[in-house]
Amino acid sequence: MKYITLKNGMQVPQLALGCMRIANKDQKDVDALISAAMETGVTFFDHADIYGKGVSEEKFAAAVKNNGIAREDMIVQTKCGIRPGLYDFSKEHIIASAEKSLKRLNTEYVDFLLLHRPDTLMEPEEVAEAFTQLQSQGKVRYFGVSNFNAGQMALLQSALSQHLFFNQLQFGPAHTGMIDAGINANTRLDRALDRDGGILEYTRLNKVNIQAWSPFQWGMFQGLFWENPVYDKLTETLDKMGEEKGLTREGMVAAWIMRHPANIQMIAGTTTADRVRNLAAAANVTISREEWYEIYRAAGNQLP
Ligand SMILES: NC(=O)c1ccc[n+]([C@@H]2O[C@H](COP(=O)([O-])OP(=O)(O)OC[C@H]3O[C@@H](n4cnc5c(N)ncnc54)[C@H](OP(=O)(O)O)[C@@H]3O)[C@@H](O)[C@H]2O)c1
Repeated sequence: MKYITLKNGMQVPQLALGCMRIANKDQKDVDALISAAMETGVTFFDHADIYGKGVSEEKFAAAVKNNGIAREDMIVQTKCGIRPGLYDFSKEHIIASAEKSLKRLNTEYVDFLLLHRPDTLMEPEEVAEAFTQLQSQGKVRYFGVSNFNAGQMALLQSALSQHLFFNQLQFGPAHTGMIDAGINANTRLDRALDRDGGILEYTRLNKVNIQAWSPFQWGMFQGLFWENPVYDKLTETLDKMGEEKGLTREGMVAAWIMRHPANIQMIAGTTTADRVRNLAAAANVTISREEWYEIYRAAGNQLP
């Protein structure tokens, strides 16, 4: 496994397992998935209160119990702040949601709690009160955000005594907006459009690690990019390179994400034990600069 070192010196695996899709799976398959993840060093698990309306967290907790996994051997993260039809970063909601997640996850604490999507009615001081209470009670060790732009991160960070360790953002070879804007900077091309406020540079400057969600999806998790003919060239390139390196195409995506010097952590959403193993194999491979750019161009991106 490859590890990344966070601002506080904590080491976390660069591959994490997202548990969004496990709610509908048979418990025995979830048990096998979590067991395969632990065996291959994928010991970081991402949740949210809303995944399967809480059932994902419950099935994960059952799998931990069935596999006899010790709490301290895992890093468990969950998210809050999305309610049906609105976003809610009120102190009351953050605390209540985190406490319910702890019950479902059958644990005394989560390692990371992330705010899931920006709430435009956010009062940073109120969030700060919620974070301080949860941390001082030992319920949450560290905090982060998801889908925030750079200005939103800076605003919230200015009110907090805790560092924001992560920003979980959609990122993969078929979703590269935060990279395109930088590569095309100072041009009049549409590709220079910055939708995230320079988030890639903000996170690197402030020692925040990006977590890449839905790395295999195109659009807003509309499907696997290799099922979309628009990405045929990308798929062919990944398969060709993967054959040379002994990796599957999903392993190649992991190698491509991990090659970026921003130390991006990949959150893979597979529910299949074998695919976790294929992904973990990518930790032994470092692709070259030439290969990184070849994959980027194969996804339809042009360099100015
Ligand atoms: N912060 C946010 O707003 C946000 C939003 C969405 C997701 N997330 C997080 O990111 C995680 C990953 O998201 P995701 O699940 O959309 O990501 P993903 O890893 O891109 O997609 C996972 C899906 O791809 C399928 N898949 C992977 N490899 C395959 C292959 N070779 N052949 C066929 N199917 C394949 C998986 O099927 P199998 O299960 O059969 O392998 C699964 O249905 C989630 O679990 C969640 O933790 C966060």
